[in-house]
Amino acid sequence: MTVALNDQLLKPKAFIDGTWIDADDGSTADVVNPATGEVVATVPMLGQAETERAIASADAAFRSWRKRTANERAEVLSRWHQLILENADDLAAILTAEQGKPLFEAKAEVEAAASFFKWFSEEARRIYGDIVSAPRAEQRILVTKEPVGVCAAITPWNFPISMIARKAAPAIAAGCAIVVKPAMMTPFSSLAMAELGRQAGLPDGVLNVVTGEAKVVGGTLMASPTVRKITFTGSTPVGKLLMRQAADTVKKVSMELGGNAPFIVFDDADMDQAVSGIIASKFRNAGQTCVCANRIFVQEGIHNAFLDKFVSAVEAFKIGNGMDEGVTIGPLINEGALKSMESVVQGAASAGAVIATGGKPHALGGNFFEPTVVTGVDNSMDIAQKEIFGPIAPIIPFRTEDEVIAMANDTPYGLAAYFFTRDMARGFRVSEALEYGMIGLNDVAISVAEAPFGGVKESGVGREGSRHGIGEYVEIKYLSIGAITPVAKVA
Ligand code: SIN
Repeated sequence: MTVALNDQLLKPKAFIDGTWIDADDGSTADVVNPATGEVVATVPMLGQAETERAIASADAAFRSWRKRTANERAEVLSRWHQLILENADDLAAILTAEQGKPLFEAKAEVEAAASFFKWFSEEARRIYGDIVSAPRAEQRILVTKEPVGVCAAITPWNFPISMIARKAAPAIAAGCAIVVKPAMMTPFSSLAMAELGRQAGLPDGVLNVVTGEAKVVGGTLMASPTVRKITFTGSTPVGKLLMRQAADTVKKVSMELGGNAPFIVFDDADMDQAVSGIIASKFRNAGQTCVCANRIFVQEGIHNAFLDKFVSAVEAFKIGNGMDEGVTIGPLINEGALKSMESVVQGAASAGAVIATGGKPHALGGNFFEPTVVTGVDNSMDIAQKEIFGPIAPIIPFRTEDEVIAMANDTPYGLAAYFFTRDMARGFRVSEALEYGMIGLNDVAISVAEAPFGGVKESGVGREGSRHGIGEYVEIKYLSIGAITPVAKVA
């Protein structure tokens, strides 16, 4: 279908030093709508030279931006927040056109992104230091926080608007400048956000958006000694590679990596609440979400009743182009993702699992895949040990609390975990035993600006959102003052 996208916000250029630019050699890449296969628009394929100019521009901007008062920085972020809300419909349309998620989800993502700008406009004014009791009578100890400097952000295709928000807003609030490299499948969301930042009065160079091949643009960012911090959301293998690269110049790192979230339903859970929870968690963004339920553990006593309700709810989804009214699940991002779902289903079936519903490419063709429920899954199967990143829900039965905790923790990942129970003592026991950075107890809507988002084990390092989110963009400096001689001694 033809989509009317706001051409003031749909920018087919990169953004360096406050200017919209093309690649030096004029090269471009197509960005394709995953629902239709049509080209949304093209973006420049920048090289090393343009990326180095972006870093230099950020470095120059940082020197004056850091000197602005917290209030001045807060005001820019607050105007930016307002502009995001005013342009929410256009931003959501761009997001759906390049990413595929249904418009109502795109709108929710835009609102979530705006909430991070609001939160960090407030946190900009709350960067506190310490005055500490000194060990010597004539000494004073002052601890202050300073912006890290030039930051690089590498953002993913699954939540392109909220990810730039979660990284750029705290960095800019803290007084840093930032160079963002968005995923090449979804660059227009970040470029539109940059345009709104410009309209909000962000000085040139404080935010730069560079488009191009990961190896070239990302490689230049990682090699630069000027870049003092890398923040990344994406897969664990790429995160590990970036951590190795960051070691060469000892950059600070924040890594939001892969997950393998357990979703546990105990016998005493409110069944309807648990079914709505799993539907929202598993199928948001067609399951292409790092915090989405990856393994669904259901206690034996309610297993069959839960399965019936769950399968009925899954079969009620409306699949289609996210721009169309009433669509609840859009396409996968590309053909590779579709092939990967086919191989997950085939692998599970050949290991003895049973396809309760779905299990194949959707009759619509293209990148559409049927929402799928798989039963008879064992926690050791590949489907339970690997991050699925698609609309496939494996169900694993369990008997006891201890057994399910052991299975839930049996993974190198530690991002998000969910469980449903009405027993509050169990609520504390299980949440303390789960080795995850974020736990939803009778809740799945865990991604909010007020709370620290992040994982443990191979799911990452650092936190986004909350008062801790801005801490990722400051360095601690300590000032020791000596020779503060008491007045009596001077006399
Ligand atoms: C993700 O990073 O995949 C999830 C983001 C979110 O829940 O906001």
